[in-house]
Amino acid sequence: MSQSASSPRTSNFNHGWRFNLGDVDAASQSSFDDGAWRSLSLPHDWSVEHPFDEKLEGCTGYLPGGIGWYRKTFATPESVPGGRTLVVFDGVYNRSEIWINGKSLGFRPYGYVPIVLDLTDHLADAGGENVLAVRVDHSHYGDSRWYTGSGIYRDVELIQVGPTHIPVWGTFVTTPKVTDDEAQVQIETQINHTGSEAGGGSLSTSILDPQGNEVAKASESVSLAGGSQQAVTQQLAVAQPKRWGIETPHMYRAVTTLEKGGEVVDRYETPFGIRTIQFDKHKGFFLNEEHTLIKGVCLHHDGGLVGAAVPLGVWRRRLLTLREGGCNAIRTAHNPPSAEFLDLCDEMGFLVQDEFYDEWDNPKDKRQNCNEKERDDIVAGHDEFFQEWAERDLKDTMLRDRNHPCVFQWSIGNEIEWTYPNYSKATGFFDMDWTGNYFWSQPPIGPEEIKKRILETETGENGEHVCATTAQKLAAWTRELDSTRPITANCILPSASHASGYADALDVVGYSYRRVMYDYGQEISDKCIMGTENVPHWHEWKAVLDREFISGLFLWTGIDYMGESNKKWPTKSTRSGLLSTAGFAKPSYHLYKTLWSDDPHAQLFTIPLEDSVYEVGGDGELVEKEPGSWERRLWFWHPLNPHWEYEPGQKIVVEAMTNMPSAELLLNGEKLGARKLEDQDDRICRWLVEYQPGELSIQATDGQATAEHTLAAPGAVADISLSVDREQLVADGRDVAHVVAQLVDAEGRPVRSDEREIVFELGEGLRLLGVDNGAHDNTQSYTSDRLVTHHGRALLVVQAAAEASQVSITATTAGAASASVSLELTGSSDTGVLQPA
Ligand code: GAL
Repeated sequence: MSQSASSPRTSNFNHGWRFNLGDVDAASQSSFDDGAWRSLSLPHDWSVEHPFDEKLEGCTGYLPGGIGWYRKTFATPESVPGGRTLVVFDGVYNRSEIWINGKSLGFRPYGYVPIVLDLTDHLADAGGENVLAVRVDHSHYGDSRWYTGSGIYRDVELIQVGPTHIPVWGTFVTTPKVTDDEAQVQIETQINHTGSEAGGGSLSTSILDPQGNEVAKASESVSLAGGSQQAVTQQLAVAQPKRWGIETPHMYRAVTTLEKGGEVVDRYETPFGIRTIQFDKHKGFFLNEEHTLIKGVCLHHDGGLVGAAVPLGVWRRRLLTLREGGCNAIRTAHNPPSAEFLDLCDEMGFLVQDEFYDEWDNPKDKRQNCNEKERDDIVAGHDEFFQEWAERDLKDTMLRDRNHPCVFQWSIGNEIEWTYPNYSKATGFFDMDWTGNYFWSQPPIGPEEIKKRILETETGENGEHVCATTAQKLAAWTRELDSTRPITANCILPSASHASGYADALDVVGYSYRRVMYDYGQEISDKCIMGTENVPHWHEWKAVLDREFISGLFLWTGIDYMGESNKKWPTKSTRSGLLSTAGFAKPSYHLYKTLWSDDPHAQLFTIPLEDSVYEVGGDGELVEKEPGSWERRLWFWHPLNPHWEYEPGQKIVVEAMTNMPSAELLLNGEKLGARKLEDQDDRICRWLVEYQPGELSIQATDGQATAEHTLAAPGAVADISLSVDREQLVADGRDVAHVVAQLVDAEGRPVRSDEREIVFELGEGLRLLGVDNGAHDNTQSYTSDRLVTHHGRALLVVQAAAEASQVSITATTAGAASASVSLELTGSSDTGVLQPA
């Protein structure tokens, strides 16, 4: 994957696969005829290709699972005598079994970890034919609290090495000391010598700076006994290092070569960054010795209409939008991301909290999103495999990910405490006689009593709590492979976790929706604490700004994600995101942009009074229906509209997010009153306006800079405004173009309250990935060329499947003029263009 991507020993193995949905007994055997199966290129997620179905499980987005088979026939490549040929799957969801030429290479239950398999001993002679077969068992299609996808949904690579080689993930680069003058770079390299005879050689590592210039080099001679492995540690110095940081994500490369008898027998590249990280219990987080607030968001791994097989271009657009909103960190909730996602975060300067699990020993209830209440085959999750596989899964993930400078925390789990007996009870929040709310109340009982209650049941052999024991075990494996990054976890019951020994396993104790307990935690614990799951409102960020010791937070979530919506059809995705599944910014995005970015910003939204959380008070002013409730807002906002399209005389609440200290609202040029930001409890300026058509504008200022935004009442739909985010599209399976269609009136003003079906027509050479309108309750098929808009808008995502100059995309809707955009499709340096799906 990323660590060796540009090295010739690695080749892309995504193309030329056959796929069948449904179990086929004989499909593992080479002689099986798969000629009638569908041809496709990976990555592939079969769940998202199906229509949403109310009869399925909302937890995984009302999409099906099932059993799927993939087969790839390939010729044995020429290789060095005695060498090895390996295949690396970056992620297969899930319960996969892989065969080469009819021989099973093993089973892997967890769907989020990379799988490395050595094919060598089962391959035909060079040039001969082989069959790699993969069975994916996602028949337990409700096995998760969120949408997982099904299939080989991440990249596959083939690796060929000689008998003396650096294994996959065989280097570990750290920077033990960094100053402005010099960085010490330490490189630990594993060498495998599979030949039976002893051999000698030399190992050299060159460090290339971001421009590709060699800035340091070290060489050692190595002697290798037959069939041996060796680890070599080299120390190098880089003068005046260019730091990896959020604004300047400079990447270096360590190029390692193994030579024998003057011949290069292996070459391995490790991209890395030079940066320092430090958490201080009293002062928060420091990146490159600079105090840095973690402006983070949690992200699940789906990409909306593409499901779990997310082309890099989809992530790039989403991350660019989050970055424009001031976001600088991502928590990969609740599982390890793809290798290429981390490459992108390295490149774009996002800090990443790499999370391993949502469940350990005990399951969560997928349908009801809490302790398991009902279990059947459909919702059987990973817990049954956890103890057996945890060490391998965690270590493989870390070996793959630990050279990425973006990774700054390892998270061993999400809200795990719920699932162990006594935890909830021990907090005192859930006792029969306790009427407190665990979101907003202080622990009603003291730490000693909490500890006593926890230890009353479920202790291990030495009297310790089982949850704490598992945490210690996971943390020990993590520290074994990396002592440079802190270990964290998202704790839902921190008062109990501090008392039970769970928090002792961590370096940074993450609090899940517990801002009211930050001071409590700071007082009773000697650990750093921070928010690792938070709601997207001002009260959360205020709690960070008010406390130097809180280094930041991770909002739930950066982007809406599919699933976690059981029994709420047609809601098929969770709408907690700053962005919708289509990547469109929502009100919470604009609020957080005003908090996280220094760019002057103002954005208007509207809502009929009766749909809002406000009413008119005695003095004619807007007041909360539940006074003070702004401080207790959770994930979802009242349903604000991005338009000015109502009935004359209708009472409308106008809300504006801005970072300017004062703002004036105007309707058709008439001033409707000024608001001061400091007077707004929830950092949102608000007016009650009687609707009349025309232009509603905000002018916000700090005396020097200004920010403005206008909503205009449109006429009837007359046209489609079509935009595309690229001029050229590369046929490499990663690049995508996002086309946005917006209904507009004859003057080009957006029409956002008259929904129409838009039909897209794609020119030859384009491959349709799908359509979405971003609404959380949009259950129109994603893999279609048409859909009904939401707020007059639709997204189409396409890829290039061939080379072609100026291919056009046309959007049409009844009663309006059609619109077109064009794209140039260029070839790829990859192994060819995608096969049409
Ligand atoms: C948290 C949990 C998330 C998600 C969220 C609500 O408790 O960690 O996975 O379920 O609540 O959407």
